[in-house]
Amino acid sequence: MKDGILAIDQGTTSSRAILFSPEGAVIASAQQEFAQIYPRPGWVEHDPEVIWATVISTARDALKAGRKAGWRAACAGITNQRETAIVWDRKTGQAIHNAIVWQDRRTAERCREIEAGGAGPEVAAKTGLVLDPYFSATKFAWILDQVDGARERARRGELCFGTVDSFLLWRLTGGKVHATDATNASRTSLYDIRAGRWDEGLLEAFNVPARGLPEVRDCAGAFGKISKKVLGEEIALTGIAGDQQAAAIGQACFAPGEAKSTYGTGAFLLLNTGTEMVASQNRLLSTIAYRIGGETAYAMEGSVLSAGATVQWLRDGLGLFSKASEIESLARSADPDSEVVLVPAFTGLGAPWWDAEARGAILGLTRGAGRAEIAQAALDSTAFQTGDLLAAMAGDGMKTVSLKVDGGMAANDRFLQRLADLTGVEVVRPVNTETTAWGAAFLAALGAGMFHGIEDGRALWQADRAFEPEMESAERERRNAIWTDAVGRVRTR
Ligand code: G3P
Repeated sequence: MKDGILAIDQGTTSSRAILFSPEGAVIASAQQEFAQIYPRPGWVEHDPEVIWATVISTARDALKAGRKAGWRAACAGITNQRETAIVWDRKTGQAIHNAIVWQDRRTAERCREIEAGGAGPEVAAKTGLVLDPYFSATKFAWILDQVDGARERARRGELCFGTVDSFLLWRLTGGKVHATDATNASRTSLYDIRAGRWDEGLLEAFNVPARGLPEVRDCAGAFGKISKKVLGEEIALTGIAGDQQAAAIGQACFAPGEAKSTYGTGAFLLLNTGTEMVASQNRLLSTIAYRIGGETAYAMEGSVLSAGATVQWLRDGLGLFSKASEIESLARSADPDSEVVLVPAFTGLGAPWWDAEARGAILGLTRGAGRAEIAQAALDSTAFQTGDLLAAMAGDGMKTVSLKVDGGMAANDRFLQRLADLTGVEVVRPVNTETTAWGAAFLAALGAGMFHGIEDGRALWQADRAFEPEMESAERERRNAIWTDAVGRVRTR
């Protein structure tokens, strides 16, 4: 049997498992979508048991298919939807409430209260984040406040809190390890990303007791062993990173100035800023890109809340097509002069607006507008939002000339060309578009000693195709002005 690396990728809409060769080739993979729970408008939950069941069954399937092809997993890594909050019983491992998903807006009011109390600058300075329901802290507090007896149980140390990685780590190790990695910790609003520790002042401001939080470790190293009972074989767990950071690692964004944008449910642009945290003046986030061998690299991040989710809405909400990939040919048939604009603020607007109450709109409709023009407007909305992030980064002194892309929408050539046209930036797609899972596998291999340093990751990265901007700059500016006007109409703050 040859030694492979298992990546567990627990995302917002599906769980996946991929067995990679050390060169980054996919040996076997499995994927399962799971249900989104919308208890009220603006609320989004996942059932932790479903998260667990889909992770186990996809991992087993990938391992089984790998074995047939002559490969085993020498080590494993986890990457995950970030910020999503779970609180579980330390003895039984049972969650006491559904996971509250990163997109969930139920704590918007609480965030406003904390902001009114004057904690905003402290939160920004220590965590690099803005005060928004997106992050885990107010979600943990909500569960503790709303589930009967939870605060008391937390006080007695009976509960564990964590993001999805730490919940999975706990379960995979049979309840032996309660830990997380620095990238996931950096998304909670409770972690001081420069000092590298949970922060007393923040824990108090958000009313989250320190006792239930996981220990924070480097992204590559020994996290524990997946127990034999769980996957049928014991596998060393040696890498963890939040999915956007894992994608940046998979894209080999290791030098300051290197940037990637991942188009999944949302879109997340991360720009490596090196060993110093750079504070944005334009409402972008500063976050931990990775911590390897005790050395922290930071990133500036722009988070767009709806990218692939917009395509899904066109498919499931409007019924414009039956398969997401059909959007490409539909958009190609749109009237090139159409000025239909779609602002996908389904769950508010992320960076740089941070407007939790904004809701979506379609503007510029004429009698000639139809399915194709709306499809084109949906793709363009993701390109415009990426452009807003690039402009904000440029405003912070970091001008990007080339952007590496990945995620589902990166398979869509029409979208990538529009992205280059509407942002004026070169867009580069790698050969390996499984960058998120590969990032987790790479960290695991590093933690297990199969790789020696980040340069091994760079050597394995290869470009597939570059998309150069072709649109005249006057036209680009005109279209961006229409977009900016449309965003202005839905904003509430
Ligand atoms: O911050 C949320 C992000 O980690 C979710 O990523 O790929 O599940 O949409 P994805």
